[in-house]
Amino acid sequence: MPQPNAVKCLVVDDEPRLRRVLVRLLEGEGFTCAEAGSGTEALEMLQHELVPLVISDLRMPQMDGVTLLRQIIARWPTTAVIVVTAVAEVESAVACLQLGALDYVAKPFHLDEVRARVMQALEKRSLKMEVEDYRQNLERRVQEQARRIEELSLERLQALVHFLEEKDPYTSGHSVRVAAYSARIGGQLGLEQSVMETIALGAELHDIGKIGVSDVVLRKAGKLTEAEYRHIMEHPSIGARILAPLMRDVPAALAIVRSHHERLDGKGFPDGLKGDQIPLEVRIAAVADSFDAMTSLRPYRPALSVEKALQELEEGKGKQFHPPAVDAFLAAFPDLSALPVPTPAVRPLHLPALPDARRPSAPPD
Ligand SMILES: [Fe+2]
Repeated sequence: MPQPNAVKCLVVDDEPRLRRVLVRLLEGEGFTCAEAGSGTEALEMLQHELVPLVISDLRMPQMDGVTLLRQIIARWPTTAVIVVTAVAEVESAVACLQLGALDYVAKPFHLDEVRARVMQALEKRSLKMEVEDYRQNLERRVQEQARRIEELSLERLQALVHFLEEKDPYTSGHSVRVAAYSARIGGQLGLEQSVMETIALGAELHDIGKIGVSDVVLRKAGKLTEAEYRHIMEHPSIGARILAPLMRDVPAALAIVRSHHERLDGKGFPDGLKGDQIPLEVRIAAVADSFDAMTSLRPYRPALSVEKALQELEEGKGKQFHPPAVDAFLAAFPDLSALPVPTPAVRPLHLPALPDARRPSAPPD
């Protein structure tokens, strides 16, 4: 008698009498059985309910057993298939094994033989699934390790950014404040957590390319020459070059590094991107970066007041800055006395979770 939670088996044969023989045998072994009179009917049933085992005759009208087998292997690879053949068709049976059937039974069959083949096929199936499960877990573990190594490298670079900033009283705490402002803007705009994490990552590392800029030029108190300005403005592309190998999975964070000096009107650096060519994450970080730069002391000018900096953001809307990002910034800080924000503590960086499509698929049931 079939047991509750018994393994389900689909018997496919155009001859009702042979189907019944197999069903009786399998039910006697504790299986639950479904029957299909043709390959087409079997496919329809499998679409509605996946079964671990299909026993199918090879010679059937409409759709033969080989076509059915091919379809099952392609669509439901965890289903074990046993084909039933006439003795004269042993060659076809061997071809079916090559296609992926787990076994075959030749007619006329002994019930003991069918029983043994079914048990063996289910054992092979569970071994195959274990191997697949192991392979997928291994892939996932390798991928997690690779990301951890990338994170550790990013954390070293983050430490380098903070070290460089701390050395210079004019830029101390800049990157973590930019990340904090960006988070407030993103929160106001209702962005998803993974996007916020991406922005935080890009914001904290956005100025890393300054390690390739001469200290003398960076700290020059007077007006910059044209050549010096161009030299400083190489830092976004230097930063992007440094980080590209570590940020393959987070292109938007890398875009913040490369494009945080772009402007909506196309007059920015380094690529002269315009409007929508600049990703939203970058447009948000650019507002945060500019506000923090304006309200910080610089060797060549005093810090701007909060009111003056906000006015600059307002006036730059549509030219330099993305208007919704500026509006979100203003809405996020209705109380101006909360500005500028105190410098947050530095926390270890994390790569945002991979989108589902990049994750290894779940192990088979
Ligand atoms: Fe910058």
